[in-house]
Amino acid sequence: MKQQSLPEHKSVEWKRKDILGLEELTAREIEFILETAESFREVSLRPIRKVPALRGKTIITLFFEPSTRTRMSFELAAKRLSADTANISSSTSSVVKGETLKDTARNIEAMKVDVIIIRHSMAGAPHLLAREVSPGVINAGDGAHEHPTQGLIDIFTMKEKKGKIKGLKVVIIGDIAHSRVARSNIWGLRKLGALVSVVAPPTLIPAEIERMGVRVCHSIKEAISDADVINVLRIQRERQKAGFFPSIREYHQLFGITRKSLESAPFDVLIMHPGPINRGVELDGDVADGPYSVILDQVTNGLAVRMAVLYLTSGAGEKR
Ligand code: CP
Repeated sequence: MKQQSLPEHKSVEWKRKDILGLEELTAREIEFILETAESFREVSLRPIRKVPALRGKTIITLFFEPSTRTRMSFELAAKRLSADTANISSSTSSVVKGETLKDTARNIEAMKVDVIIIRHSMAGAPHLLAREVSPGVINAGDGAHEHPTQGLIDIFTMKEKKGKIKGLKVVIIGDIAHSRVARSNIWGLRKLGALVSVVAPPTLIPAEIERMGVRVCHSIKEAISDADVINVLRIQRERQKAGFFPSIREYHQLFGITRKSLESAPFDVLIMHPGPINRGVELDGDVADGPYSVILDQVTNGLAVRMAVLYLTSGAGEKR
């Protein structure tokens, strides 16, 4: 990466303090994040995986829900940019003593941090924080609303593997109704010109989804026959108890991605999954680990994408 070119590159095109969702970003802003991520990709391939881009900056992760990938990926991305990092989780913070989200955030701000990354079960929590505090705020997943960095990672990986996004046929299978990953994928992919279909039992497809410009299917065979990419979503087991579909077994039979169901897909289809996977429910293990799968490439690309969003929201190289 050409370190000296980044600040100028950034100041020309990037004006936002926060990254809260792909709904509010323009196509050009999304492309700009992807281009910035591309320039950070090679940092993780160096013998010494570190650049000084965010030296002196402080990044806080504030997670009110469990996470393996997102939290670790943000933390490693920050460290590779030489930022100082600290983690707060709800179970070990003063939230358990009744402190409000606003008070927690104001106290973090008082310690002079540059970026707060938040995951919260309440849709809109990152937006509330962004209004209240001056550091950059990155949404790491808010309820069923958005998970913008996962959407960016998925789009970055599709572009890496297929060479384009415009005109790409992307099928998203699973719990569309409760999925923040689905929403961020749909906003981002539609803005960049991909053709998006969603597949799920009718109870897991929200009524307004067609207004987002997607095609709705209830049969996997129909949906994947000309798919370039199949992005499989986790089935949250608690949904079965809530009666959204009769049983996990029936879900797997009708909507699970198996070697058999993939016989209807093109030979070069990509299988994606944001993780964590329920093997044998939405995706069979041999498909997750098989030749079509790019699931671990998504995780690797997560570092470059998160380095890019940290760089852009930290104000590195510019006065805000
Ligand atoms: N994809 C994703 O958000 O994974 P985690 O819940 O492990 O962060």
